[in-house]
Amino acid sequence: MYESQNTSTSRKVRVPELRARKATVLSPERAPKIAMVTAYDYTMARLADEAGVDMVLVGDSLAMVVQGLTTTVPVTLKEMAYHCRVVARGLTRAHLVGDLSFMSYQISPAQAVKSAGKLMKVGAESVKLEGGEEVAEQVYRIVRAGMPVVGHVGLTPQSVHAFGGFKVQGRGASANKVLADAVAIQQAGAFAVVLEAIPPDLAADITRTLTVPTIGIGAGAGCDGQVLVCADLLGLSREHQPKFAKRFANLGDAAVEAFATYVKEVRAGTFPAVAHAYKANALQAATIASRSHPPEASADELDAPLALDLWH
Ligand code: KIV
Repeated sequence: MYESQNTSTSRKVRVPELRARKATVLSPERAPKIAMVTAYDYTMARLADEAGVDMVLVGDSLAMVVQGLTTTVPVTLKEMAYHCRVVARGLTRAHLVGDLSFMSYQISPAQAVKSAGKLMKVGAESVKLEGGEEVAEQVYRIVRAGMPVVGHVGLTPQSVHAFGGFKVQGRGASANKVLADAVAIQQAGAFAVVLEAIPPDLAADITRTLTVPTIGIGAGAGCDGQVLVCADLLGLSREHQPKFAKRFANLGDAAVEAFATYVKEVRAGTFPAVAHAYKANALQAATIASRSHPPEASADELDAPLALDLWH
């Protein structure tokens, strides 16, 4: 049985275990669904890890969540590597997936291997890339180089301009294309495949067809696991959220409230209180008390014009 909560003694989640959690390989009781979230920094990574999340994805969604951009297209591999490095420091149990950024793998299989290597060198334990048949060769070569790969089909946000927006994929005749893409990526050696924004019946069909786990986002409950963007899950985002992004908390409102209370207390002089200050030692305290301070200015003196006009 798997633990739902992490403890310091929990063992590391590794690729063979994740692959074995395919629902059809083990009974559902012995193979609980895979819970994956995104994280972009050390603090978030630690919290997710402590909660017992199985896989943490440093997603290129950091372009939108961290960098305030409108798509994932501009984020660079160097930026992805930086965030992989800091997230890796926060994980003791969860498996870390690094997302390959737009144009860091599409050009050639050799480019893909080199880019994947950069993320693995800073702590990623596998890499994710978007696309189907057209990137199967890339997946194959990365896997052959010893790096595990997670595929990503359906709505692939790096192709947002080709899709004409963040639109549901695989409706009607295009369902076969999404299925073929998922199969191609599995055949190329991916150990799991993310299914994004496709109808639930198609996702369930793909899940039954594949022998590796599927991880859904906006793809219904019929997948072997689920992934959500941490800011959506925690209710941190002030932007529009996609329909599938359930808020499990409302930390955005809680944060605004905390900041506002801080502002109020700083202005009122009630923060910091004695409890938040360091004590001087007895000798220091006596020295400070014995020092003569100039008398405080009277109200009249404060109203007097400055002797030196600094502006003219
Ligand atoms: O970048 C990301 O956050 C992702 C997930 C939505 C799967 O790719």
